[in-house]
Amino acid sequence: MFKINENYLKLPGSYLFSTIGKKVKEYKSANPDREVISLGIGDVTQPLAPAIIDALHGAVDEMSKAETFKGYAPDLGYEFLRKAIVENDYKKRGADISIDEVFISDGAKSDSGNIGDIFGLDNKIAVCDPVYPVYVDTNAMSGRTGEYLPDLQKWSDVIYMPCTASTNFAPELPTETPDIIYLCFPNNPTGSTITKDELQKWVDYANKVGAVIIYDAAYEAYISESNVPHTIYECEGARTCAIELRSFSKNAGFTGTRLGFTVIPMDLKCGDVKLNSLWARRQGTKFNGAPYIVQKAGEAVYSAAGQEQTAKQIAYYMNNAKLIREGLASAGYTVSGGINAPYIWLKTPDKLTSWEFFDLLLNKANVVGTPGSGFGPSGEGYFRLTAFGSYENTLKAIERIKAL
Ligand code: MLT
Repeated sequence: MFKINENYLKLPGSYLFSTIGKKVKEYKSANPDREVISLGIGDVTQPLAPAIIDALHGAVDEMSKAETFKGYAPDLGYEFLRKAIVENDYKKRGADISIDEVFISDGAKSDSGNIGDIFGLDNKIAVCDPVYPVYVDTNAMSGRTGEYLPDLQKWSDVIYMPCTASTNFAPELPTETPDIIYLCFPNNPTGSTITKDELQKWVDYANKVGAVIIYDAAYEAYISESNVPHTIYECEGARTCAIELRSFSKNAGFTGTRLGFTVIPMDLKCGDVKLNSLWARRQGTKFNGAPYIVQKAGEAVYSAAGQEQTAKQIAYYMNNAKLIREGLASAGYTVSGGINAPYIWLKTPDKLTSWEFFDLLLNKANVVGTPGSGFGPSGEGYFRLTAFGSYENTLKAIERIKAL
């Protein structure tokens, strides 16, 4: 008789955004006349930029002719894209990363979940609290997190690093020593970030204790302040302790097109074993590469026109962020984030729980957000709104929330 992976049975409820999607669907079918505005999941709404669309059309045409047709993509990615990444995302920022350290994928969500494959089960992970749920859930699926403790809403074998108003929503170095540290800056869900000097402390710490940092920089394009690092490799010593995850979803609107990459420096080793080689082996075996068409679209993001057009989209979303921040602050809400990130983190009013506020907003304002407690126990009493809606919908949503 076959056996299942029983770790899945330990997972509480469904994936956060699936739970929200289900609740919203139910509300809409019970109230078909209501116009519901979603500022919940961080999904973009602006169409792909013209330079990206042109590249997609060109690549589709190539696929129509035998001379230019492409079959399987190289499983680590086409060199034209890896080269563009190295030049633009790393060399221009003074970070020393080479092409063979970049692995193209179908997005940062898959990579952040899959990266656990190359680590032993007896590693102890440390996560921010609140945190993007994929890091914890995928470690739970592989049996690295112990037992789920419903009263605490925590896993027994995970080190939680509270990110609260008193820490400026940034984590402090843990007292218990972890093996794998997940960091995401600019942060999802709180929209907070840390300076280069602060990130340097994490790199020094990881090198000192022999931990690896999995650094999710999916939101780096939203950084507006000059002392905030765009990549962990701006820090001295990061090549020996950090893996970086990047995405085309938020900087170029690829949430539905799917493209991302992971960087693993050759200097990152466990004894003599390079993590780069393990990931190459894992990807070569389990992944057949992101589609050629999509990788050509990714290359176009780095063209002069692509850079200019995507910068305009980011400015558009950041204008929404400002609207949300200022609109809610003027209505008496306590808000943070939204300066270097497309997320606004607000304290729920009148001591409502995160889910109570979710229900209030859905039922009375017909606005969908994300309950802070869905990201971890320290998120209780908080709520996340995304700036990825259209300007018109964002304006309407804020007016409705103010009128509550
Ligand atoms: C979010 O809303 O947190 C993100 O859109 C989820 C993701 O990027 O997978």
